[in-house]
Amino acid sequence: MDRFLVQGGARLAGSVSVGGAKNSVLKLMAASLLAEGTTVLTNVPDILDVTIMGEVLRRLGCDVVRNEASVAITVPAVPGHEADYDLVRRIRASIAVLGPLVARCGEAKVALPGGDAIGSRGLDMHVAGLIKLGADVVSEHGYLIARAARLTGASVWLDFPSVGATENLLMAAALAKGTTVIDNAAREPEIVDLCHMLQQMGAQIAGAGTSTLTVEGVESLRPVEHETVSDRIVAGTWAVAAVMTRGDVTILGGRPEHLEMPLEKLVRAGAVVEACDGGFRVCMDRRPTAVDLVTLPYPGFATDFQPLFLGLNTVAEGTSMITENVFESRWMFVNELVRLGADVRTDGHHAVVRGREVLSGAPVTAHDIRAGAGLVLAGLVAEGVTEVGDVHHIDRGYEGFLDKLTALGADVQRVSVPDDSWLS
Ligand code: UD1
Repeated sequence: MDRFLVQGGARLAGSVSVGGAKNSVLKLMAASLLAEGTTVLTNVPDILDVTIMGEVLRRLGCDVVRNEASVAITVPAVPGHEADYDLVRRIRASIAVLGPLVARCGEAKVALPGGDAIGSRGLDMHVAGLIKLGADVVSEHGYLIARAARLTGASVWLDFPSVGATENLLMAAALAKGTTVIDNAAREPEIVDLCHMLQQMGAQIAGAGTSTLTVEGVESLRPVEHETVSDRIVAGTWAVAAVMTRGDVTILGGRPEHLEMPLEKLVRAGAVVEACDGGFRVCMDRRPTAVDLVTLPYPGFATDFQPLFLGLNTVAEGTSMITENVFESRWMFVNELVRLGADVRTDGHHAVVRGREVLSGAPVTAHDIRAGAGLVLAGLVAEGVTEVGDVHHIDRGYEGFLDKLTALGADVQRVSVPDDSWLS
């Protein structure tokens, strides 16, 4: 139960490096199950979620060895097929083993992850898609159980371009008999990364990065070495931090072509953004101007950026309207921002933010990864000290967050707080 003590008033300046994307690497780890032998993933971030996903794979019989920024996953000829609730509730992304396991083993038993801090997060499209591919899927005693002697290619139309459903169906279809067409598929850079890895493994996939993915199933896939795509959400977090603190930060390893919409918003807020060798630079010399935004599937404005930009708007000049279309409960952290003196009102999918000149440091709690990062950034521009609790959420997605903040000039410390479970 560690906390960050964030001293307000720092101006961030310098360079920061960005590693591989959490939202990609966890799915790439699941994809390794599709081939017997050793798959090596590089540019792997040192974050808690990678450790937990490694444990999911170990319990499926894989050998997982971490060596600096790479992970070697050795998959046996016959992996296990069950992912239990104990791990799945800690890492929702583990639902990504469902498709590979049913395709490879003929059976998958994966605990239902339940809801979480940002929304209900349905699985109906994953299930409907697998049924279309010929699987028999039941929900029993808190588990989703899918069985198919061999999946068969089919046309699948997703109601919504779900990232998770697209990934599960892609991985399942790679080993199905015949052709699968996934329409209204997600187009995120992390989906393209998964397609590239599957293609290297021998999968026949056309349309990566478009709304229609066509997969010609093959008999078997081979293990590969693959470099994880850069984390656009982490890169964008540093860009927002530069703007909020009126700083000058070079984001090395960041891919501006994956950040068109958020960088455009930062320019409208008053920032100067320019490409540079190995990344991009963000400079700001004045109070930001408020920007409206609407979250949508890629290439729209990512829901993961919403808490960060909402935080930016709390100290911007003017009033902004934020519309959240992806996760209905992603406003929980607004109450924490209000504790810092922010003026935010929410109603259904919308939040109205009236910018304030300054925030005022206070104890707050991180409920999820991006909200946690957003609260730390708000703390950087608040007067006095902001104490951000439950920072294990930040550890799940940000590699060396505190060290990187400190290197950019922030005054942030990590403190361990005694267990207060005796109170309950
Ligand atoms: C989502 C984000 C992704 C982000 C990730 C982590 C989108 C489209 N997806 O991916 O960018 O990196 O969270 O924060 O922005 N849904 C259903 N039934 C399903 C599948 C999904 O109702 O079978 C709903 C979800 O409840 C949610 C929406 O569709 O409201 C988006 O789901 P999905 O893209 O699958 O979520 P993630 O894969 O977690």
